[in-house]
Amino acid sequence: MIRLIAAALLAGSALPLAAQEQIASPDGRIVVTLNTDNDGVPFYEVARDAKPLIARSQLGFLLTDADPLRRNFALASATRAQGNDRWETSWGERRFVDDRHNQITVIFREKTQTPRTLTVTFRVFNYGVGFRYEFGNDAERPVTNIGEELTEFNVAPEGTAWWIQGGDWNRYEYLYHRTPIDAVSTAHTPITMRLEDGTHLSFHEAALVDYSAFWFKRMDGQRFRTHLSPSSRGPKVSRTGAFNTPWRTIRIADSAAGLVESDLELNLNEPNRLGDVSGYFKPQKYIGIWWGMIRGDWTWAQGDRHGATTARAKQYVDFAARHGFAGVLIEGWNYGWDGNWFGNGRDYSFTRPYPDFDLEEVARYARSKGVQIVGHHETGGNINVYEKQLEDAMALYDRLGIRLVKTGYVADAGGIISCNADVAEPCGAEVFEWHDGQRQVQHHLKVVETAARHRIAINPHEPVKDTGLRRTYPNWVAREGARGQEYNAWARFGNGPDHDPTLVYTRMLAGPMDYTPGVLSLVGDRGMPFSSTLAKQLGLYLAIYSPIQMAADFIENLAAHPRELEFIKRVPADWAQSRLIAGEVGDYAIFARQDRASQDWYVGGVNDGTARDLTLTFDFLEPGRAYRATVYKDTADNTYENESRHDIAYDDLTIRQGDSYSVRLAPGGGLAIRLAPARR
Ligand code: NOJ
Repeated sequence: MIRLIAAALLAGSALPLAAQEQIASPDGRIVVTLNTDNDGVPFYEVARDAKPLIARSQLGFLLTDADPLRRNFALASATRAQGNDRWETSWGERRFVDDRHNQITVIFREKTQTPRTLTVTFRVFNYGVGFRYEFGNDAERPVTNIGEELTEFNVAPEGTAWWIQGGDWNRYEYLYHRTPIDAVSTAHTPITMRLEDGTHLSFHEAALVDYSAFWFKRMDGQRFRTHLSPSSRGPKVSRTGAFNTPWRTIRIADSAAGLVESDLELNLNEPNRLGDVSGYFKPQKYIGIWWGMIRGDWTWAQGDRHGATTARAKQYVDFAARHGFAGVLIEGWNYGWDGNWFGNGRDYSFTRPYPDFDLEEVARYARSKGVQIVGHHETGGNINVYEKQLEDAMALYDRLGIRLVKTGYVADAGGIISCNADVAEPCGAEVFEWHDGQRQVQHHLKVVETAARHRIAINPHEPVKDTGLRRTYPNWVAREGARGQEYNAWARFGNGPDHDPTLVYTRMLAGPMDYTPGVLSLVGDRGMPFSSTLAKQLGLYLAIYSPIQMAADFIENLAAHPRELEFIKRVPADWAQSRLIAGEVGDYAIFARQDRASQDWYVGGVNDGTARDLTLTFDFLEPGRAYRATVYKDTADNTYENESRHDIAYDDLTIRQGDSYSVRLAPGGGLAIRLAPARR
């Protein structure tokens, strides 16, 4: 850590500046500089190995009821601290997380008669930077009304970006763009970049609580600014009393693996507030009455093709019991699906089952078989209707022993129906909000906290992006928040072969995704083929992490693939450690993960549309120990592009540390290997 009091001439500034503050990462490679420019605009810079990474970038706010917090500031004080901690995760990709950082809190003070302050805390880790604004309690002005946050990210070197657009109708459900950095428009985070010298960056946020998510908006060149998700009120964010903004985060790594293995956002979240949730949530695999509705064979609504009947539910429970699946998801069990529920949700009841679905009996039957029903609350985006029933809905599931609930917010972006708090109850006026605005951010936490009181875990679809809150609320177990496997059912070649290896380095940096792998039939709507080989469906369990992993196909199709089903039954959803052992952004991703509950290792992942030969090494295995390897791989010449996508090759061999093993990844292919210690 260096403190420079002497005048410093900063790149790009004409005049010497009076003072600046600097803070370095524990290994000294990353250095953040803080100061104000000649107009008194607070700014930060980030350098790595003495090379500029984030050039001068402003800090500040527009307020809707006061002068902007933008210019005419001077650096007033700086306080420093350090963190050196190791904490245990409730579940996840690794059991222990190290948190080593250096911290600086800087106060900028206005050069006016009645000066206001802007307080920013930076934490610098060896693998990135996080910073947040801290607002104190102002007795005279207790409410802060933010019109826009003016934080900038001025990326210095040129490079390539992988991103999806923010502010468009389909929330986060887009295929990723790969463009030069200066061709990004307005992007959601995480956004991933590879710079010319091979440095990898990811911009995101951590601990998004009671605030609007930000979109990453390009202003010019490679200069980006926070664009807060809109609100139906004037200010985009309104807060009373003292508060901190979410952390703005920049992962910095030498390689794609470094980006993926970073714990930056988790470390910036508050510790577990719920205590031990293992009494009601255990990482698990589940099946469901689901794929039939997604493909259009069955319906959520009542009628001849209604999916969620008592008889079918029992059939799925039997299959789960026979094969050791923990849960059975049942969608379309409740009133509200018969009309237009998309972006509407006005008719949903979260307690009244359809007549052909005996909820009490199905729950009793499941309990008797040692299987749990995975509950479902689709809201159609109507949080007004949902919040009114929330307590009763969770209490019902609690009474029935249902411990995991999937929620859903199917509405176009900006179509979340809420209630104008200024109009008397019952809701006099509906207002429309964004899936990632402050109101919806509040809603998600309300659901998670209500569920926690009822010992229930939550998995929202059409969610707000994940920002690491699973650390604080370990019953918030997964989310959707990207194009999932369901898209493979809907259009020719659905997600395409590149999507999965792109998700690994983009969406997945945010947190677990309920991607719903395990469609072994590889067939979507009206016979449409997947852009995936059979081996890729297994590789997905290793590439796309979630503590809840679905085997999404019809049970008949799962049963028709006994060897693959055996892998799915065994593959853990909770790991002691995880490493990306081979991969590049958007191209391919092969992980080695060690089971948290045994000494087994698993190796595998997903490929893009280009065939690839890999030689794997096994440095991570225990020295001198023999492991029985069961391999599921692509054949010598198969491809997702024709019927050979169904082909798969198996191998059974002994592997030790130091051995190598060559495999071919097919176009649209994948790989899955189980390594179990051989008996000594
Ligand atoms: C979209 C979700 O992604 C899907 O999983 C769910 O089945 C439907 N909405 C209905 O809730």
